[in-house]
Amino acid sequence: MTARPLPDASAEAARPRGPVIEAYGVHKSFGDNVVLDGIDLAVAAGETLVVIGPSGSGKSTLLRCINVLEPIDSGRILLEGEEITRKGAKVAAIRQRIGIVFQQFNLFPHLKAIDNVTLAARRVRKMPRRQAESRALDLLARVGLQEKARQNPHQLSGGQQQRVAIARALMMEPHVMLFDEVTSALDPELVGEVLVVMRDLATTGITMVVVTHEMQFAREVGDRLIFMDEGKIVEEGVPADVLDGPKEERTKRFLQRSLQMAHSLEELSITQEGEVE
Ligand SMILES: Nc1ncnc2c1ncn2[C@@H]1O[C@H](COP(=O)(O)OP(=O)(O)O)[C@@H](O)[C@H]1O
Ligand SMILES: [Mg+2]
Repeated sequence: MTARPLPDASAEAARPRGPVIEAYGVHKSFGDNVVLDGIDLAVAAGETLVVIGPSGSGKSTLLRCINVLEPIDSGRILLEGEEITRKGAKVAAIRQRIGIVFQQFNLFPHLKAIDNVTLAARRVRKMPRRQAESRALDLLARVGLQEKARQNPHQLSGGQQQRVAIARALMMEPHVMLFDEVTSALDPELVGEVLVVMRDLATTGITMVVVTHEMQFAREVGDRLIFMDEGKIVEEGVPADVLDGPKEERTKRFLQRSLQMAHSLEELSITQEGEVE
């Protein structure tokens, strides 16, 4: 992990040190389908962890378990040293410490950008309107959207809407941000503006877990990368090391396939199992 400037050193110092997220032997099935098959993980304070892996490997489920949106079958997940998967954990309070951004922006269409950003703080935290709006404007400025604060979602591009969603997730001052393929639904020319916002966010010292297909982002912004397949962490390391010199066969195959897709469709075909080869 590299040292990073902190947005507010005093607040940061008051927080517990050590890993922000820990997972020990996490198992999760849907019926017969084993989706998380013994996940052990630690995400250090300020670290940006990038998660890659094929569709269906359990990446989204992992994020949803960390955000206590899915119960796990066995194992433990800790947030800042506190076990969040124990019975009786205060889920609402835990979720306030975790910001999550999904592929679908899920903005309220009838609310202006700024009202989408302030809604939870005003409702849940009972933050006064003026204070909430002032903070929301700061956050919208940070994602490059101060001018768009009074626009409704339909007046914004997909990239702009996703940046509003990021500002919304930051509103509750989360201690960790989870990103689940947040650029996958965007037109290619809008991907960059969202990645740049995430890159800048990573330098503020906030802890981030980023599920992505954007290998260049993984390489440049990730402190560490994990490759998941069939519910397991198959390989992990410094992003450039894993991307340039994968050790495991499954990682090699996945990266080769991603590269192939990026360069040419010519040699690809659909197998009988419906997979691309
Ligand atoms: N709510 C659910 N109910 C049943 N099966 C699910 C549910 N969510 C995910 N799954 C299954 O779990 C597996 C992993 O899904 P997911 O975590 O979304 O993978 P990824 O994000 O890596 O594509 C898939 O086989 C998927 O069909
Ligand atoms: Mg997913």
